[in-house]
Amino acid sequence: MKITLLALASCLIAAPVMAEDSPPVAPVVSPDGSLYKAFGGHDGLVRITDDLFVNIEADPRISSFFEQQKIPHIKDMLVEQFCEITGGGCVYSGKDMKTAHKDLGITQDSFFALVEDLQKAMDKNGVPFAAQNQLLAALAPQSRDMVGPPAG
Ligand code: HEM
Repeated sequence: MKITLLALASCLIAAPVMAEDSPPVAPVVSPDGSLYKAFGGHDGLVRITDDLFVNIEADPRISSFFEQQKIPHIKDMLVEQFCEITGGGCVYSGKDMKTAHKDLGITQDSFFALVEDLQKAMDKNGVPFAAQNQLLAALAPQSRDMVGPPAG
């Protein structure tokens, strides 16, 4: 866990000096589908996303962000996005990350909290550590499109 968060923190620090515009969603990191397989394919991603939301709802650091939100839709979009990134051949059809998280007031700490909840969900579902890191490394640069000034 510590190593994963360290890797993620390095990506976040490196992010501002990389290309100015990040792609609207993370790129495909495993075109041959091996990463998708490591996540258990579609059913695995659905289980991980369900567990992620169990963790989020029990997490006082970020649960309030998701009150009054259409959770089934967000879950569907996450599965689709993770499927695309891991090489499962899906095409993400949701909003780009900047638009989806605009004006929510997500802090860096909230972002890390969600990543921890995602790690717990991946652990529970037996996703190998290296595979977890590949997904998190792909998501890390997107944080700058999600983190923003306090809402309101
Ligand atoms: C790994 C990082 C994250 C990913 C990959 C991600 C992905 C997504 C996706 C795919 C959607 C649905 C977009 C659509 O409706 O088309 C969404 C919506 C949303 N996300 Fe995230 N998200 C991340 C981090 C966060 C964090 C850290 C928070 C808050 C703590 C958050 C709060 C929300 C909320 C509240 C919505 C619903 C917004 C709305 O419909 O108005 N997300 N996210």
